[in-house]
Amino acid sequence: MRKFWWIELVTAALFGSYHTDAQNIEGRKWWKEAIVYQIYPRSFKDQDGDGIGDLKGIISKLDYIQSLGVNVVWLNPVYSSPNDDNGYDVSDYRDIMKDFGTMADFDSLLSGMHRRGIRLVMDLVVNHSSDEHEWFRQSRSSRTNPYREYYHWWNAENGKPPYRYSLFDVNHDAWRYDSLTNAYYLHYFSRKQPDLNWENPKLRQEVYDLMKFWADKGIDGFRLDAFQFAAKDTTWPQFPAGFEKDFSRYYAMQGNLHGYLQQMYQEVFSKYDLMTVAEGAGNSFEDAHNLVDSNRHELDMAYAFEGVDLAGPEGYSVRQFKEVFSRWDSAFAHSGWLSIFLANHDQARMVSRFGNDSPAFRAVSSEMLTTFIMTMRGTPYYYNGDELGMTDIRFHDISDYRDVSALNEYEHARRTGADLKAFLDRLAITSRDNGRTPFQWDRSANGGFTSGRPWIKVNPNYTTINEAAEESDPSSVLNYFRKAVRLRKEHLALVYGTYALLDRDNPDVYAYTRELDGQKFMILLNFRSRPASCHLDAGLAHAKLLLDNYPGPARGVVLRPYEAAVYQL
Ligand code: NOJ
Repeated sequence: MRKFWWIELVTAALFGSYHTDAQNIEGRKWWKEAIVYQIYPRSFKDQDGDGIGDLKGIISKLDYIQSLGVNVVWLNPVYSSPNDDNGYDVSDYRDIMKDFGTMADFDSLLSGMHRRGIRLVMDLVVNHSSDEHEWFRQSRSSRTNPYREYYHWWNAENGKPPYRYSLFDVNHDAWRYDSLTNAYYLHYFSRKQPDLNWENPKLRQEVYDLMKFWADKGIDGFRLDAFQFAAKDTTWPQFPAGFEKDFSRYYAMQGNLHGYLQQMYQEVFSKYDLMTVAEGAGNSFEDAHNLVDSNRHELDMAYAFEGVDLAGPEGYSVRQFKEVFSRWDSAFAHSGWLSIFLANHDQARMVSRFGNDSPAFRAVSSEMLTTFIMTMRGTPYYYNGDELGMTDIRFHDISDYRDVSALNEYEHARRTGADLKAFLDRLAITSRDNGRTPFQWDRSANGGFTSGRPWIKVNPNYTTINEAAEESDPSSVLNYFRKAVRLRKEHLALVYGTYALLDRDNPDVYAYTRELDGQKFMILLNFRSRPASCHLDAGLAHAKLLLDNYPGPARGVVLRPYEAAVYQL
């Protein structure tokens, strides 16, 4: 199925001037050339005034999304859900969450995107469902119910089950006792997110069917939420004490996970033209390759966390940043494909974590990070609002938080007598709610996000950081983002070209080249709030400057604070 043949034709006409022989690129795929824009629907745009973003809101902003130049949208879950974890707890996989609208709204959203040459990737949340899903209602009703084996149960007459850590539970305990059948059910996330039993072939078939339901509607891909945890060793071995500090080693890539993915490929992916991405990439390069090497017929690209996890509350080391991204690049240089990102809905804001959100440097440091994302090998994923340079809100009062993980961790800290002030100070920096405050459209009330009462506070800096203001400023973060997107789309070397790190030990500047078919680009990024220089073997005298986030002439190897420069050599 080549739904988008006409885009390919237009692209060829527009960029017939690709300075490289596009035909010669091995393994060329639309999803490698994609630029993904992630939309968190709850916080993007509210059309009906209930304070919660919705599908009609997104529809009203499709021209804006198109104006960014992105060509894929990844939508966080929009299925029916009681919203314990903002949609990551699905109660009906074939229906739309009431807060977000109707299936008719979804259909118009999809066709509106396709009309604009934008593809849609859906979140697929099938490591777990909601406890309000009909499968779970049935499953818990009796030990002999046909749906019993859709979930993991441990009968209480066998004593307490071996400890499993839960990421979102107030007691960190992943087994929840249910007196109805005198048994415990497993939930790696919250109590309202029971884990599905992937070892049950009937459950697997149900999931493939629902995936086909969406693929038949014409969606263009799936992001597999937490799927690395889906397969379990159901002999439930004891894990060593303290395993939860490194739980991914025990939870990720277990049992027959690859077998299930291969089956999913046979049943679903092989029948459609879909882009598929795994959230999490296991614990090693080998794990990541096993997920995405094309000869294995599992998924298309890995979404690994080592890079995004680098920035802690105390900051990060630029040398380490370079080392991690270079290591991942070299591990995927010849097979497999990666995602490149510095933020998503599970992180605080990109500029606050990796850049500098003080008024003096917010814009330039956002732009520098954007330049990084748009010039690396791998498919760029860009989180909504980062194109404006939106910043962390940093709540200090627990009543401002909405995230189940923040609220339950706070309760855990309270019950265990932890220092709550220290807990809240840290949460203010690390909380996922930092990345979930409403999109800042203009300077009207609530940043133009809603006419009602927003479900979570709007960042008060919306009066200066907003789309309308940036739209009319040619030197805004937003307009720089558009330029960087355009640059990537014009040069296949930035997608497929080899990557080489320069001036490796420079503690301030990240310098690298990208090269394909004799086309060579050099990218210089100053990660500091002071001038810094880099040491290059070749000079820049004959290089052509294609992009820079400062006005006025670039100064070659001496970079201004957070300066980003892209040269063609
Ligand atoms: C990963 C998602 O990105 C996150 O938001 C969610 O809370 C967990 N998976 C559980 O679904």
